[in-house]
Amino acid sequence: EKPMQQISHIQETPVKRLCRVHNSITVNGQFPGPTLEVRNGDSLVITAINKAQYNISLHWHGIKQMRNPWADGPEYITQCPIQPGGSYTYRFNIEEQEGTLWWHAHSRWLRATVYGALIIRPPLSSPHYPFPVLPKREITLLLGEWWDRNPMDVLALAQFTGAAPNVSDAFTINGQPGDLYRCSSQETLRFLVGAGEIVLLRVINSGLNQELFFGVANHKLTVVAADASYTKPFSTNVIMLGPGQTTDVLLTADQPPAHYYMAAHAYNSANAPFDNTTTTAILQYKGAPCVTTLQGKSQTQRAIPAQLPGFNDTATAAAFTAQMRSPSKVEVPVELDEDLFFTVGLGLFNCPTPNTQRCQGPNGTRFTASINNVSFVFPRINSIMQAYYQGTPAGVFTTDFPPVPPTPFDYTGNVSRGLWQPTRGTKAYKLKYKSKVQIILQDTSIVTTENHPMHLHGYEFYVVGTGVGNFNPSKDTASFNLVDPPRRNTIGTPPGGWVAIRFVADNPGVWLMHCHIDAHIFWGLAMVFLVENGEGHLQSVQSPPLDLPRC
Ligand code: C2O
Repeated sequence: EKPMQQISHIQETPVKRLCRVHNSITVNGQFPGPTLEVRNGDSLVITAINKAQYNISLHWHGIKQMRNPWADGPEYITQCPIQPGGSYTYRFNIEEQEGTLWWHAHSRWLRATVYGALIIRPPLSSPHYPFPVLPKREITLLLGEWWDRNPMDVLALAQFTGAAPNVSDAFTINGQPGDLYRCSSQETLRFLVGAGEIVLLRVINSGLNQELFFGVANHKLTVVAADASYTKPFSTNVIMLGPGQTTDVLLTADQPPAHYYMAAHAYNSANAPFDNTTTTAILQYKGAPCVTTLQGKSQTQRAIPAQLPGFNDTATAAAFTAQMRSPSKVEVPVELDEDLFFTVGLGLFNCPTPNTQRCQGPNGTRFTASINNVSFVFPRINSIMQAYYQGTPAGVFTTDFPPVPPTPFDYTGNVSRGLWQPTRGTKAYKLKYKSKVQIILQDTSIVTTENHPMHLHGYEFYVVGTGVGNFNPSKDTASFNLVDPPRRNTIGTPPGGWVAIRFVADNPGVWLMHCHIDAHIFWGLAMVFLVENGEGHLQSVQSPPLDLPRC
């Protein structure tokens, strides 16, 4: 066991950005929170002490948590939240995972400020990366979002009014907006590199609600991993990441010594308001010339701008994702036990009395979202894990989640208004231990088509196919990649299209699947899988830790 003391105090801390100070919830007083640097095979012990005034839980995004959902973190799913004044020790192992992941709060919008990187390096017994060239330097870039007001207030207001929450006021890189914003010239990070050096950039979209394009001025990026799985290397000018996703790229400092912007801005596939600002950091070559001002003061050179795709450049986003492959042939489940078809998309609830303060969505409605027409409601009286393994499930959840939509319709066409209103429920879908599962995630055009980055807890899955329009089994299945598809924990359902994933249900427990756009989670774009135990204790969920919080 490797004791980790990095995460201990979750507390309110003043954080100043863009000339405004917020009392933000932070970890150990840091924003973003501490980076966890571990190796494949390590066992971690992380104690979270809640000194804030909110209930909170922490999630280790992408860690498989084999037979150990107790450490996964989503509140009311695998644990009750840690109450103010309480604490909980997360104990888990890193098993056969390498690359870049991250951790974040999994309680309402607290992850706006409660997040950090989780870097998993190869074990000391074979410490080299399987890359075409080995990096001399590593830089971790957490792309985030910043609001001029307390993000929890932004959420509370949206929850009260039923409208979409305000978009962010800035994007950030490692918590800093960069020098293209008002009064932020001191808030720009610089990373020094030597000419010719090879740099590994670990890029994480830790933002709440926005897919992002990222690029570095005048430099090509070689993608080598995504979501802590190695990929077949390919070269690109720009990468796209949905919230929750990570991408590792190699960059060679092969340009003339100068200052180059590393920049991110929105990829906005929906017909909705968005934050159209750009966050920057600077890649500064050692020995890059300085310019001298008239006053004789030496001043740093202006950085060379990065060229990013247009905000709605779906073609570039799709082309980027389409290049992802596993490094070599992988074992994809072929004979399926479960063939699931999930619609993912938005909706609207009609209000009993229209035009009240609580119905400030379009035409006096409230926004909602659903999977297969069920808008997920988080339990409040107990977590689903605790209800299922320790107590009575009655009243906490049911196991009648529909494997296909109740009525088929033209998902990406003109959907009749009668289908815009989902039902509400806390429904799980049961999977037998080791069943071979395929899920088609189908975006809908209800309210708007949109890229929904779907994240499955407790698993990595293969992304075997994707396409535009309605999924057509007789035609589309033939083009699936069952040889070397990429392995991920979060995948975008393309706007007005579908994506197909496969996995073997070999990790028993209760596992949340949801859109990683946080606004969509509180609207209900989530469901849970209840994966049954296999035979014997080695195929069953471990016993719960004694300090597991109670509701
Ligand atoms: Cu990164 Cu359910 O979360």
